[in-house]
Amino acid sequence: MQRKVLRRVADSITITDNRTGESLEIPFENGGISAAQWGKLLPGVWFYDPGLVSTAACESSITYLDGDEGILRYRGYPIEQLAEQSTYLEVAYLLLNGDLPTPAEYDVWQHEVTHHTFIHENVRKRFLEGFHYDAHPMGMLVSAVAALSTFYLDAKDIFDIESRNKQIIRLIAKMPTLAAAAHRFSVGMPFVYPDNSLKFTSNFLSMMWKTAEPRFDANPALARALDVLFILHADHEQNCSTTAMRVVGSSHADPYSATAAAAAALYGPRHGGANEAVIRMLTDIGSLDNVEPFIASVKEGSGGRLQGFGHRVYKSYDPRAQIIKKTADDVFEITGKNPLLDIALKLEEIALSDEYFTSRKLYPNVDFYSGLIYQAMGFPLEMFPVLFAIPRTAGWLAHWQEMLDQDSKIARPRQLYIGDDARDYVPIGAR
Ligand code: ACO
Repeated sequence: MQRKVLRRVADSITITDNRTGESLEIPFENGGISAAQWGKLLPGVWFYDPGLVSTAACESSITYLDGDEGILRYRGYPIEQLAEQSTYLEVAYLLLNGDLPTPAEYDVWQHEVTHHTFIHENVRKRFLEGFHYDAHPMGMLVSAVAALSTFYLDAKDIFDIESRNKQIIRLIAKMPTLAAAAHRFSVGMPFVYPDNSLKFTSNFLSMMWKTAEPRFDANPALARALDVLFILHADHEQNCSTTAMRVVGSSHADPYSATAAAAAALYGPRHGGANEAVIRMLTDIGSLDNVEPFIASVKEGSGGRLQGFGHRVYKSYDPRAQIIKKTADDVFEITGKNPLLDIALKLEEIALSDEYFTSRKLYPNVDFYSGLIYQAMGFPLEMFPVLFAIPRTAGWLAHWQEMLDQDSKIARPRQLYIGDDARDYVPIGAR
């Protein structure tokens, strides 16, 4: 395709329909151009963009991401500072409200979330316990979140701010309870009720691991490491699950139904399942001697992809991966080193100095190390996407709320039809 500069006008683009010779100048706004403006020149001509790779589907002020520079900020705050100094609950408040809370606001927020952690007994007894004995905990979580909409009928009042806030608090508070309940069911252990004297991640660890002791006190360093992981996973702008949240939310479905849709999107191995794939890959490699042959097989195409490497947006490095490496050290000091770590380190070292990976800008992403940490902390592989869904709920809800406040349109993309032309129905006996 030949590119011709027609004239230089700052901050705008001019397009010409060569069929008619008509031109239109469209200003750049916030780094993009309006497709509605484009449509004035080309009505009925659709952008063909599978995977929405070149489409900005909304304006958002929640998360800023620069994939070339490896920058990630929530509401303007660098992820490095938040991971170092903040807590998941504070970050959830920030994502949802736009600013960090004052001490008084934080007290109220923490109290509200802590006091909405219980789930209706029917959710546990009738619903969760009705699953097949080997049900995947993520499938259970997706279904249980959707089922919550039948318990909170006021959730349909999505433009009633008081009701909306109540559902947001309920969802953030109940996700760990549902997640732990799904795990306990899948291993045949009795359900543990939330302990409201505990902080968010300590409470979750208590619901996961408590056995006969009257109170489960998680190792503070492990609870903090989980909190850091939750901060890193709290939002990532318009990823697949957040887009699902916005799309379903755009029909004005209640937030439980929209969150269930987002969690379902996260369930897929291309999204929330990558850290599980990393562990399976490292286990298959098995020893340091097999690392080089494995890399060779990836390069020649027979070994599949190097899981935990590459990212649709980050093309220099994933800032979350750098933070997570340090968190891994903190966790391994307590749990002992994950035996797969050495294989991971060698893989990383070889890949980062190999032209195949560097020329394609493939660097470790957040999932390369998160699975090693979760495994060292004792979480089964099936819980990995569930551990992702708990904190991402804050991001999903922040985007859902932003979308409602923007009075956005229902999501309804167009298609390029490539099927048959009109043809007449043939009765079954005549085919
Ligand atoms: N290992 C080996 N080669 C890779 C990898 C990888 N992990 N990722 C991309 N490539 C290669 C592709 O084969 C392709 O090569 P080619 O140009 O010779 O055909 C090139 O790099 C570009 O790949 P695309 O698939 O076009 O890149 P895209 O941006 O669409 O994919 C993705 C990003 C899906 C994350 C990809 O890098 C991947 O599959 N990684 C492994 C899975 C993974 O770690 N996912 C977690 C993502 S982070 C998250 O969801 C939280």
